[in-house]
Amino acid sequence: MSSRAMTVDRFLTRKKEGPPLTMVTAYDAPTARLLSEAGIDIALVGDSLAMVVQGRENTLPVTIDEMIYHTRLVKNGLEGPLLVSDMPFLSYQISEEEGHRNAGRLVKEAGAQAVKIEGGEEIAGLVRRLTISMIPVIGHIGMKPMGVHQMGGFRVQGRDAESRRQIVNDARALLEAGVCALLLEAIPSSLGEEITRLSPVPTIGIGAGPHTDGQVLVFHDLVGWTSNPLPRFARAFGNARPLMEDALTDFRKAVQNRSFPSPEETYAEEGGISPRKSKNPKGKDV
Ligand code: KIV
Repeated sequence: MSSRAMTVDRFLTRKKEGPPLTMVTAYDAPTARLLSEAGIDIALVGDSLAMVVQGRENTLPVTIDEMIYHTRLVKNGLEGPLLVSDMPFLSYQISEEEGHRNAGRLVKEAGAQAVKIEGGEEIAGLVRRLTISMIPVIGHIGMKPMGVHQMGGFRVQGRDAESRRQIVNDARALLEAGVCALLLEAIPSSLGEEITRLSPVPTIGIGAGPHTDGQVLVFHDLVGWTSNPLPRFARAFGNARPLMEDALTDFRKAVQNRSFPSPEETYAEEGGISPRKSKNPKGKDV
């Protein structure tokens, strides 16, 4: 592990001394390489995989085996960021034992260094159990996307007194159970600030305002790849989609007008100069 690698034991220092933590989703090795090169602290193999990569309506269909597969892909490209994997729907709700086994699979079979679990007071027992097994847990509270059917959509939580009180109780229960961080999704900024103040471990926000100890975004939203309108809390820091569309359109036109491949992109007769060598003198003869 390189000395600049992020580890859970560095979370507390970052909470006290900053700078704020950066977390970005990744679902494959090339994205993991980008996160590593950009100095992102935490790569999250989110169950958003279902919506972002699999094209599903919500996060519910993704399976533990799919999460394990994608966590492995991310691990293959990751150097530096902490690898966190989401526990998907029904991988932990049926029994603590099943949750324990599935969290263990993410660590043992896929290389996750921590797991993220949606839930509050009701998952405190599981969090305690995983922490005793030395599996670091990030608790995900506020808007919990798995509750899409109960909420009647993806809705901001904690706006009325009762819901606010419940989210604070959830935070306290998870902290007591031993979480290494709290992820706060889609709650009023003042509630994000309150939980950040009471929490000894870092809070990482997505739609939880500017006071949390870190921020997380979905990779495709962040780079401007997403075609749907972004949620209010997301920002596209890049404009990847038109760049990729232009590249594909240029490829199609070049094939159709026969300007691709050019002589430089074509193999010579045996003994001739390799086209790849002429582009990259250090490259292999391919
Ligand atoms: O699954 C995911 O990508 C997430 C983020 C939105 C935080 O949980």
